[in-house]
Amino acid sequence: MDFLPQEIEQYAEQHTQEEPQLLKELNLETWQTVLAPRMLSGPLQGRLLSLIAQLMAPKAILEIGTYTGYSALCLAEGLPKDGVLHTIDRNPELRRLQQKYFDRSGKGHQIVTHLGDAVEIIPGLDQKFDLVFIDADKSNYLNYLTLVTPILRSGGLLISDNVLWSGKVTQKAPTDDLDTQVLQEFNQKLKTHPEYQTVLLPIRDGLSVARKR
Ligand SMILES: C[S@@+](CC[C@H](N)C(=O)[O-])C[C@H]1O[C@@H](n2cnc3c(N)ncnc32)[C@H](O)[C@@H]1O
Repeated sequence: MDFLPQEIEQYAEQHTQEEPQLLKELNLETWQTVLAPRMLSGPLQGRLLSLIAQLMAPKAILEIGTYTGYSALCLAEGLPKDGVLHTIDRNPELRRLQQKYFDRSGKGHQIVTHLGDAVEIIPGLDQKFDLVFIDADKSNYLNYLTLVTPILRSGGLLISDNVLWSGKVTQKAPTDDLDTQVLQEFNQKLKTHPEYQTVLLPIRDGLSVARKR
């Protein structure tokens, strides 16, 4: 669900930096050929990710949930020449499309793709990150917080998508709705976490931005 009225969302998009042509094509090809295209971050959130990454110029980015590579390419816009973006997805069917656009972007050599379950892959990443973007299965968000906090540098940013979960987080979650329960606990934990300073932005499906102290 989008929280902004459609005309406000459209106006915001029209008065935001234009989405690069390559991302327009990736967006279109995702909608034409891949299941669940609404998962893609889209132009407004994408430009915000790009802006944040360009402000930070992070040497190392970790993305959990590549999908077709849209947000990875937005974040990669901020990589310095010696920077690297690691991105994890467990769906092998997405590889061809990801690689096609990573290669076309000219940043393909700076993007490392990992195929598999992020909960198993993250502990094997033997390095620190300046920016982490969580955008995969919601039931693992608390696990991701536990796994990425020790490998996020002090002063680094943890950005998490879908934290409003179509507004369901504002209501008491049904006992069988694990995703909503986990997101409620995740949002509360991030707000009260002694190591993070957090702002929850009601952009798209809710994007939280947390700086590690
Ligand atoms: C919302 S989409 C990511 C969208 C992408 N970040 C973007 O904005 O363009 C979520 C992705 O997470 C992947 N995923 C879900 N659970 C995962 C897990 N446990 N490990 C790795 N990938 C996972 C799915 O295959 C899917 O491609």
